[in-house]
Amino acid sequence: MPPIHQHLDLPPSEEKARFVRAMFGRIAGRYDLMNAIMTLGRDRRWRRRVVALAAPPPEGRLLDIGAGTGGIALAARARFPRLDVVAADFTPEMMAVGRRSPGGHRMSWCAADALTLPFAAARFDAVVSGYLVRNVTAPDRLFAEQFRVLKPGGRLVCLDTTPPRGPLAPLIRFHFKRIIPLMGQWVGGDRGAYTYLPESTRTFLAPEALAASLVRAGFVQVRWQTFMFGTMALHIAVKPVASGEA
Ligand SMILES: C[S@@+](CC[C@H](N)C(=O)[O-])C[C@H]1O[C@@H](n2cnc3c(N)ncnc32)[C@H](O)[C@@H]1O
Repeated sequence: MPPIHQHLDLPPSEEKARFVRAMFGRIAGRYDLMNAIMTLGRDRRWRRRVVALAAPPPEGRLLDIGAGTGGIALAARARFPRLDVVAADFTPEMMAVGRRSPGGHRMSWCAADALTLPFAAARFDAVVSGYLVRNVTAPDRLFAEQFRVLKPGGRLVCLDTTPPRGPLAPLIRFHFKRIIPLMGQWVGGDRGAYTYLPESTRTFLAPEALAASLVRAGFVQVRWQTFMFGTMALHIAVKPVASGEA
């Protein structure tokens, strides 16, 4: 598959954003089902883990950016009923599915580009994301925005896939390249989208590189854990209370 920015005369970042928005617009209706099948039903547990690690004050404010159908935001509301939860995304079709889901009406939905967030500085106690980062062309800018909207002492938690490595890597790559696109065709009705998704994982940042991007944005206490045969990574980072804290 040629890089998507070869098709149009646009800056790569704009073209990728268009491509990503159109793709999630197409698959929105089957997105949750496909996730449940691809992860053998474990995705809900991982989203609950994101919320537990974000540990917002029970009456604080949490932003789920790249929220899609709102899986993490809904888990946050379920765990902290008085938490002010904002789910933001740039694909309206994904948010429309989330709004209709149980509990979806009890939070705010916001059309927003993660690279230029429409929120004041220091607005949120926690910022979380699930499977967003590999869809953007500028992770440094993405994390700088999340840093800006977090309160000092606030936490970022980022869940994403990570390029396979280790002895199982060939098997996992085969699964990504052959099995997932087939499942995408049968269940999701869109082979192209489910070719892009594993491909974007293969070429994505290793956990160390993602952590380095967080450090460049100003975060401290950056750590990560991998799981699911090393195919998923959860990064946790803190905005320092005073500048210069390490
Ligand atoms: C793989 S889905 C993840 C949805 C949800 N976070 C989850 O855990 O299932 C990625 C989402 O990121 C959104 N997205 C990608 N790039 C974005 C950007 N620059 N600004 C806002 N949303 C973006 C897409 O529209 C899509 O809904």
